[in-house]
Amino acid sequence: MERILTRNVGKEGSHTLAVYEASGGYQALRKALGAMTPEAVVEEVKRSGLRGRGGAGFPTGLKWSFMPKDAARPKYLICNADESEPGTFKDRVLIEKDPHLVLEGCLVSAFAMGARAAFVYIRGEYVHGARILERAIEEAYEKGYAGKNVLGSGFDCDLVLHVGAGAYICGEETSLMSSLEGNRGYPRLKPPFPAQAGLWGCPTTINNVETLACVPFIVERGGDWFLSIGKPPKNTGPKLYALSGHVKRPGVYEAPMGLPLRELIQNLGGGMLRDDRPLKAVIPGGSSVPVLTADECDVDLDFDSLAAKGSMLGSAAVIVMDSSTCMVRAIERVAHFYAHESCGQCTPCREGCGWMERVLARIERGEGRQEDLDLLLDVSSHILGHTVCPLGDAAAMPVASFVTKFRHEFQYHIDHKKCMV
Ligand SMILES: Cc1cc2nc3c(=O)[nH]c(=O)nc-3n(C[C@H](O)[C@H](O)[C@H](O)COP(=O)(O)O)c2cc1C
Ligand code: SF4
Repeated sequence: MERILTRNVGKEGSHTLAVYEASGGYQALRKALGAMTPEAVVEEVKRSGLRGRGGAGFPTGLKWSFMPKDAARPKYLICNADESEPGTFKDRVLIEKDPHLVLEGCLVSAFAMGARAAFVYIRGEYVHGARILERAIEEAYEKGYAGKNVLGSGFDCDLVLHVGAGAYICGEETSLMSSLEGNRGYPRLKPPFPAQAGLWGCPTTINNVETLACVPFIVERGGDWFLSIGKPPKNTGPKLYALSGHVKRPGVYEAPMGLPLRELIQNLGGGMLRDDRPLKAVIPGGSSVPVLTADECDVDLDFDSLAAKGSMLGSAAVIVMDSSTCMVRAIERVAHFYAHESCGQCTPCREGCGWMERVLARIERGEGRQEDLDLLLDVSSHILGHTVCPLGDAAAMPVASFVTKFRHEFQYHIDHKKCMV
């Protein structure tokens, strides 16, 4: 397949404006500003079937259409470059290797929604990526792609980079906005949705880095072209998969949406790390989604196929585990992460995440009690759907799926006070 999102990755100086322009960069911005109305850009994105790459898979064009047309206050776009979900490292490739693609995506999308500024919120740990973006933003201003009267079109759009302090919760859109405003990264209930009341109370749209990177291609080549890639009509376009764990060649791979999971592991990832250790389980969409057993791995990596298997595409971070993996230890690490990252605002998440972690830790230490497995399922069911933001669900779902699907291993740990593997 033609590499689309990663077409510049591997080229010398791919992060520079010169290389980006030489590969046809900023032509989509020229086309949008010169030959299209903002409404036409929104329509093209709707037509493409593009769904958000940040986790939930919400249709991008539809989200954009929620922005009010004649707002009295300024409108804003936020590019979510927080990328903190364990196992996820796909946006980083775009940020570091092709930052102008991300910026062009921001500018075209801001034009479509009439946004006055686009903020890129990047996690604090991505120091290298932040420096590259900073330089790319300077270059964009110097060449008239950003700032006042972009390319003489009359469209004004500032690009602002904001470096976070390294908190997973700041990837959640409402806490991201709170952090960007200079406050503590606390999520809030929706509605109001960001398109009604977002950054500083102004209409705001938040999109993931990869989502925005798709937009220049949709504008240049048309929504129908994008729609023809993958599994139309609802799972379309090129997709980045971050593959990690027990495979020979972990890394970020671009393939059409709907790539079969086994093809990713075998062909792109080079197969299982050690030939004598077969596949045991896969987390297909970042640590917050339900795990798949080896028997469930005949599935395509797209939103609807994974939902049909009771899991999610999430951030498309595929974590492969072989037969040597202790499932108790694996989920204990995941639970520790969520307990640490919970913002503590609502009781089921604050108390429940710590409780699940403590129970898992004692099973892992060989001090598990017979009632612990039902207790874990009970605690997770009381978190699910009862919290202000989806971090609670993100912590509860994997625990429930691990305990349900690998119950015999947990039971072995309790009975024998040691790992089964
Ligand atoms: C706890 C939590 C963490 C999140 N972290 C990220 C993140 O790091 N990057 C991201 O793009 N979206 C993240 N999201 C999803 C965002 O809230 C938001 O839905 C997304 O940025 C929208 O972009 P999209 O429509 O392009 O997918 C997170 C959500 C939750 C609940
Ligand atoms: S679910 Fe957790 S992270 Fe989200 S608001 Fe509640 S306590 Fe904070």
